[in-house]
Amino acid sequence: MTDQAVPAIINLDVPGPVISRHLYGHFAEHLGRCIYDGFYVGEDSDIPNAGGIRLDVVEALRALNIPNLRWPGGCFADEYHWMDGIGPRDRRPAMVNTHWGNVEENNHFGTHEFMALCELLGAEPYISGNVGSGTVREMSDWVEYLTREGDSPMVRLRKANGREEPWRVRFWGLGNEAWGCGGHMSAEQYAAEARRFGTYCRDHGENKLYRIAAGANSDDYAWTETLMKQLGGLGCAYRPAAFMQALSMHYYTIPGTWQDKGDATVFDTGDYYRTMVQAARVDELITGHSAVMDCYDPGRNVGLVLDEWGTWWNVEPGTNPGFLHQQNTLRDALVASLHFDVFHRHAERLVMANIAQTVNVLQAMILTDPGSGALVLTPTYHVFEMNKGHQDAALLRIDLPAGVPDRAVDSARLPTVSMSASRKDGRVLISLSNLDAAETADIELDLRGGALTEVSSRILTSGGLQDHNTPEVPGIVAPRVHEHVKETASGLRVHLPVHSFVTVEGRLA
Ligand code: AHR
Repeated sequence: MTDQAVPAIINLDVPGPVISRHLYGHFAEHLGRCIYDGFYVGEDSDIPNAGGIRLDVVEALRALNIPNLRWPGGCFADEYHWMDGIGPRDRRPAMVNTHWGNVEENNHFGTHEFMALCELLGAEPYISGNVGSGTVREMSDWVEYLTREGDSPMVRLRKANGREEPWRVRFWGLGNEAWGCGGHMSAEQYAAEARRFGTYCRDHGENKLYRIAAGANSDDYAWTETLMKQLGGLGCAYRPAAFMQALSMHYYTIPGTWQDKGDATVFDTGDYYRTMVQAARVDELITGHSAVMDCYDPGRNVGLVLDEWGTWWNVEPGTNPGFLHQQNTLRDALVASLHFDVFHRHAERLVMANIAQTVNVLQAMILTDPGSGALVLTPTYHVFEMNKGHQDAALLRIDLPAGVPDRAVDSARLPTVSMSASRKDGRVLISLSNLDAAETADIELDLRGGALTEVSSRILTSGGLQDHNTPEVPGIVAPRVHEHVKETASGLRVHLPVHSFVTVEGRLA
């Protein structure tokens, strides 16, 4: 093993753009065991709950300072009719969840339950409305039901269902993946629909909507361009229209094919590096969509929202293929830490990101055992927790005069060290990932424009990249104190073991 020394300069006194806390957002769809059995167990469950919502899940997520939760989909959003999910539960009509497992959806978790969940979490709701199979009136009524005060038909209905005061709901999605499950529309068709839906989703009283148009898949830059044109103008003459404040994009890390995406826990080092190359692509994609947006909106008034991201593996053997249930290893954690460094660097345009999905589905924070109900925190959960100090902090740029080490992966090159830093309330947080599975790295942090005191450090790593947590052994991959941070004449020297994620925190002297 060779140590790779990497010089890195951070000007502690030059704060950059603010990293929105919403880059640490979440996503919960009516899919598999995310809502039912994940968040919601029903009031009669033996598992401690409030109105059917699992309290242990809430407590674990509160520790992440989860800023927002997107719901009810995903693909499910464009078949969801919100009025089926209000009123007495035993009278709510059922439906078939055709996208996800062809199972019956009893609508027991609906608008009121979702808003109660957000209140318990202390998170802002982000509701995805139904453009694909819904009507403009249906969506407009939903906004009125949730956010209007005083007296109106929807307000009376809300009050009849037990909620006197309106809620605050800022984030509103105009459909989901309109190019696919959301209606198989062309960009032009969708743009026209989004204009219509966006127009009739009204700001009621003080509740100002932040409308998010359903954006591109991966590198479909033409989709982004069409939406930006529809928002109005070009370059400096650009005046974003009132009916859309942001547009989204989706990108999943899938090193295999859609038919065989690879296994969550059974993989070799080659598969691991190919995964990291795919994960690193998120930088290229955000850069590409931002560049298109910059042509139309150089003032960066329109937000870019990556409202679905994360790893997508083959489902766990023996589980319903439509439930997208997968394990989560140290590899997933490093995918997450790499994404956050990229998100931070794009803080000026990227205003929100939502990992898919919070509980039991895809790259989850929490897995619940269907038999015992036991709750497991995944390695990805720990990255969110270790990084939470970046929320609403000012980005600190990291200059790398000698670059970073990289390694060949098929025909690509993977930079194997990734970092980002921020400051907030007199504290500095530095995140460092060594993606290399064979070489350690030493980072020589040259801290200029200030100094750090009360330095502490934590590390997330394990003996194998395949290591993961289970109900039987829940703490295999968990953060520990990291002893290998030394003060130097110009700053700090941080040792990064192979495949590790490290955070260093300190107070500005
Ligand atoms: O997150 C799972 C699915 O992936 C979502 O429902 C859809 O939007 C995307 O294709």
